[in-house]
Amino acid sequence: MIDDALNALREGKMILLYDFETREGETDFAICADAVTPQHILQMRKDGGGLICTAIDPVAAELLHLPFATDLLQATGVVEQDGEIPYDRSNHSSFSIWVNHKKTFTGIPDRDRALTISSIGAQVKKVLAGEPDTFHAEFRTPGHVALLRAADDLLAQRRGQTELSVTLARMAGVTPAIAICEMLDDETGLALKKDDAIRYAEEHGLIFVSGKEVLDAVRLSSNKQ
Ligand code: 5RP
Ligand code: CA
Ligand code: ZN
Repeated sequence: MIDDALNALREGKMILLYDFETREGETDFAICADAVTPQHILQMRKDGGGLICTAIDPVAAELLHLPFATDLLQATGVVEQDGEIPYDRSNHSSFSIWVNHKKTFTGIPDRDRALTISSIGAQVKKVLAGEPDTFHAEFRTPGHVALLRAADDLLAQRRGQTELSVTLARMAGVTPAIAICEMLDDETGLALKKDDAIRYAEEHGLIFVSGKEVLDAVRLSSNKQ
C-alpha cells in the first residue's frame, strides 16, 4: 500500500492520509503542492471540509525563513503552550504563517488557493535545489493558505499529518510541500470515521494510507541501511 501511495504522489494524485487512533484519528486529503489545481481545492473543500494547509519540509522552511506561529505570536498572550494540545501532549502545532500569492485577488477562490499552493511548491523546489527563492517577492501575509512547518526530526519528533506527508514526499522523491485538508463528516460534523474514509477512497479510486504504514516503511528502510 505504501508503494501505491508513493506512486500516486509521484503522479500528482490525491491520497488519503490517516494519522493514528491514539492521536487525532483524522484522515486528510494529501497531494503534492506543485500538482494542485482549482479542481483539487474544490474536492478538498466539498468532500473534505477541513482546513486547506500546505505542509513544508523543515529544511525548506528554514531556508524560506518560515517561523512557527507559536514563536511569532508570543506577544498576543494567547499563544498555545507546549503540551496544551489534547491529542498531542508532547508538541505544539505545526502552524507557520498564512499566505496569499500576490497575483491572487482575495485569495480564497479555488483558483486563488491553487495558485498560492502550487507556487509554494515551486519555491520549496527552488530552495532545496540551492537556487535563490522569490518567496518574499511573490507572497504576502496574512493570507488564505496556512503553511505548516514540519518538525526538524520529522516522525521522531512529531507524528501529525504534517510530518507524515513530508516523510512520504521525501520517500517518493517529490518536492516535500504537500497540500492537506481534513475530512469531516457531513452528518455529525465530526472527523470522518476511518472506515468511511476508506470507503470514500475505494469509491473515488484513491489510495488510503495510515500513519502506522508510514512508520513501518520508515523503520524498514532504516533497518536496510
Ligand atoms: C491543520 C491541522 C491538521 O490536523 C493537519 O493534519 C496538520 O496538523 P497535524 O500535523 O497536527 O496533524 O490541524 O488543519
Ligand atoms: Ca492532522
Ligand atoms: Zn487538525
